[in-house]
Amino acid sequence: MTCIGIDIGYGFTKTRSAEGGNRFPTAVSLMATEATFSELAPVRVNGKRYLVGEEAEREGGSLETRTSEFVASDAWLAILGHALNAHKFESGAIVLGVPPGVYSREYTERIIESIKASEISAGNTGHYSLNGNIRIIPQGAGIFFRYIKYRPDDLKKNIAVIDIGHHTVDMTLFSHGRYVETATESKEIGVAEVLDNIIKRFYREHRDTIGYKEAVDILTAGSVTYMGRQWSVDAGDEVARYSGQINSVINRYLKKLSVKPDIGIVAGGGAEVIQRFIRSDHKLLMVTEPAMANAVGYWYYGMEVDRG
Ligand SMILES: Nc1ncnc2c1ncn2[C@@H]1O[C@H](COP(=O)(O)OP(=O)(O)OP(=O)(O)O)[C@@H](O)[C@H]1O
Ligand SMILES: [Mg+2]
Repeated sequence: MTCIGIDIGYGFTKTRSAEGGNRFPTAVSLMATEATFSELAPVRVNGKRYLVGEEAEREGGSLETRTSEFVASDAWLAILGHALNAHKFESGAIVLGVPPGVYSREYTERIIESIKASEISAGNTGHYSLNGNIRIIPQGAGIFFRYIKYRPDDLKKNIAVIDIGHHTVDMTLFSHGRYVETATESKEIGVAEVLDNIIKRFYREHRDTIGYKEAVDILTAGSVTYMGRQWSVDAGDEVARYSGQINSVINRYLKKLSVKPDIGIVAGGGAEVIQRFIRSDHKLLMVTEPAMANAVGYWYYGMEVDRG
């Protein structure tokens, strides 16, 4: 029996199975022409061919992923197919997450129906027959399961989960092991906010356009090696402004919850990048490999459910 956890974020898609973890940019484009010289590996969904991840970024023409119609669309299913293919998945349980703000029974049923009704194939596999064993839980729940796995004694506590992503910061609450639907909040202040400003500063100072990877280096180390040269960039202002924003969002959330959280867990790829700047009066913990935490937790969850 195999099981896979898939966390499709706005920035990156993270996956975890018994084979290990994987991550690729959440980028997808429709493949317009037949590949001739290049060896592109499209994912086929309902008769259409898509490029996913680095290939989509390289070839250009990436589709917009930040709309409500994206989830469950053919392009979204292509990302799912790419994730399955990376793990040589054939059959088993799939656990996915959706942003807590849009999580509902109708919504998740619609996603599962569209997965079941679609023909998806990737790599050398025939098409996947994904006809049942699919579970969808709120993003953030993965982080919670990931934490509880190693701290089972904390299950009875009130645990706030703060997921700092690329575009969004999602905050959720778990009380006695249950997800508290009304306590969910999502803010569009993921780390892309500060990274975009660092990219702009670099352009102002050096008239050259760096990418997110270089911006992360500047944020964490104050300098970057770019085009074979070392550049130092003082992004103190950008970082201070963003730290102020994010700390106030986190602390306001923790303060206004109707049940007092015993523990706050910070995770998501953004947490890895800005951990030095997070300040709170509350006790905040970070899980190891924060960027992978949701995917890992989904995988644990899938295995637990399977065992019954
Ligand atoms: N090891 C790493 N390498 C490159 N970038 C990283 C790394 N760790 C964290 N990041 C940064 O973390 C961010 C992505 O975080 P994460 O994968 O949690 O976002 P996401 O889930 O895709 O976004 P969202 O939650 O908004 O949907 C990116 O901005 C990226 O620059
Ligand atoms: Mg995320």
